[in-house]
Amino acid sequence: MEHIDKFKKILENTNIGILETDINGKIIYINKKAKEVIGLKFPRNNPLFVWEILKNGKNEFNKIVKLIEKNKNGIEGYETKIISEEIKNIWVDVNVTPLKDRETEGYLIFFKDVTKKKILEEKAKETTLYLKNILNDSADAILGITLENKIFLWNKGAEEIYGYTADEVLGKHIDILIPEKLKKENESEKIIKEALKKGYLKNYITERKRKDGEIIKVNITRSAIRDLEGRIFGFSAIVRDITEQEKMQQKLIQSERLSIVGRMASQVAHEIRNPLASISLNLELLEEEIEEIDLDKPKKMELTSLIKTITSEVSHINNITDDYLSFVRMPVLKKSKENLHSIVEDIYNSLKNLLITARIKFVHHKQNIPLIPVDYNQARRAILNIIKNAIEAIGNDGKIEVFTRNYREKKRLCLYIKDSGSGIPEDKLDKIFEPFYTTKATGSGLGMHITYQIMKEHGGEIKITSREGKGTTVSLCFPTEG
Ligand SMILES: Nc1ncnc2c1ncn2[C@@H]1O[C@H](COP(=O)(O)OP(=O)(O)OP(=O)(O)O)[C@@H](O)[C@H]1O
Ligand SMILES: [Mg+2]
Repeated sequence: MEHIDKFKKILENTNIGILETDINGKIIYINKKAKEVIGLKFPRNNPLFVWEILKNGKNEFNKIVKLIEKNKNGIEGYETKIISEEIKNIWVDVNVTPLKDRETEGYLIFFKDVTKKKILEEKAKETTLYLKNILNDSADAILGITLENKIFLWNKGAEEIYGYTADEVLGKHIDILIPEKLKKENESEKIIKEALKKGYLKNYITERKRKDGEIIKVNITRSAIRDLEGRIFGFSAIVRDITEQEKMQQKLIQSERLSIVGRMASQVAHEIRNPLASISLNLELLEEEIEEIDLDKPKKMELTSLIKTITSEVSHINNITDDYLSFVRMPVLKKSKENLHSIVEDIYNSLKNLLITARIKFVHHKQNIPLIPVDYNQARRAILNIIKNAIEAIGNDGKIEVFTRNYREKKRLCLYIKDSGSGIPEDKLDKIFEPFYTTKATGSGLGMHITYQIMKEHGGEIKITSREGKGTTVSLCFPTEG
C-alpha cells in the first residue's frame, strides 16, 4: 500500500501530463500537470471524454485509435493539438499505451506540452522560406561556387542575367561564364586567390559571357562560406549586371562633352557671322563694279563666274553656322496654323533646280489635310533637312515621294518622305540622330539631330524605316491640336 501511495504521489507531481481513459475515451484519471495544461475545472460533475480536448475532436480520436490497433504496444512521439479553456492551440507530444486486463480496457496517455518547441520550429521554417525567397527573387544573380570553381547554387536572378537555367550550369565549371580573353588571363584563379586571402572580394568589375554569347559588364561581390569548424568550403557570389548603367554613364560623359563642343561651336559660328555678312555685301558691290569697268566680255564673264563661286561657298558657310547656332539654342516656337503641304511646296520651289539637275523625280501627293499648329520656319527646317538627306542619298536618278496621313484618333498628322536612295544599314539606324554623326565628306552631321529636336519641341516624333540599297522612309508626326 505504501508503495502504491508513493507511486501515486510521483504520478501526481511529475512534469508529464498523464491521463487514463476507458475504451470509449472517457477520462477516469487525470494528474496535476494534465489538469494544468488542459485548464478545465476538476472535479467535474459531467464525465470528460478525451476527444473533447483534442483540437480536431472525434476525428482525431478515431485516427489515434486506428493507429493503436495497428501498433499493439501503443504509439510514441505522436504530435497533435489540444485545446484548453483559454488557449486554442497547444501542441503536445503524446505516448498512448493500451491497457488491458480482465475487467478493464482502456488507454494510458502521457503527454508533453511542446508548443514552444513547435513555435520555434515554425519560425525556423518561415525564416528558411523567407531566405529562400530572397535568394530566388533577387534581381541580382546569386551563385554558390566550390573551391574548385564549380557552381552549386544558381538562383532566378542568375538565370536571367546569364540566360542559363540551373539545370544547365549546376556542377559545371565557372569558366562557361567567362569570356575567352579573360579565360586566357586565368581570371577565375586570380579571383579565388584574392577571395581566399581576404575571405571576400568586393565590387569587382569585370565582364561575363551570357549563354547567347553576349558580353555583359558585371559587378561581383564574393564572400567565403565556412563549415561549422570555420573552414572555407566555397564562395557565394552576388553578381549585378551593370551593362546599362555603364552605357548611361558613357552617354552622360558624351553629352557633357557635346555641350562644351556645342558652346564653343556656337561662339565661333557667332563670330564668323558678321565678317561673312560683310563678305557677302562686298561681293555684291564687286559684281556691280565689274559691270561698270571697261573690259571685254569674256574677261567680264570669267570674273563674274569667279565671284559667283565665292558667293555660293560663302552661302554654304552661312548655312553651316546657322546649323551650329540652332543646334545650341533651339528658339522658342512661334506657332501658327499651317498646312504641311504648303511648307513642302515652298521647299520644293527652292530645290527645284537642284532636283532637275540630279534627275530626281519629286512626287508630291497633296492630300486634303487640316491646318495644324507649327512654327513655320522650324517645321520648314525639319522637313528641309530630311529632303536634303533624301537628295544626297540618291545622288543622281531616283525618286522622292512625299505624302501625308491623318490619324484622327491619335490626333496626329504624319508627313512621309520616301526616297529611293542608298538606305541606312540597320546597325546605324539609331546613330543617325546623334549630333555630328555623318557619313558625308562635307556633312556636319547635325541635320537629323536638329530635326529630331524640332519634332520634340512640337510634341511630335520622327521615325525611320530603311533598307540598304532600296531606300528610306522618314515620318514626321505632328500633333494636330495644342
Ligand atoms: N535618307 C537617307 N538615306 C540614307 N542615309 C541617310 C538618310 N538620312 C540620313 N542618313 C544618314 O544619316 C547621317 C546623318 O544625317 P544628318 O542629316 O544628321 O547629317 P548629314 O546629312 O551627314 O549632314 P548635315 O548636317 O549636312 O545634314 C547621314 O550622314 C547619312 O549617313
Ligand atoms: Mg543631312
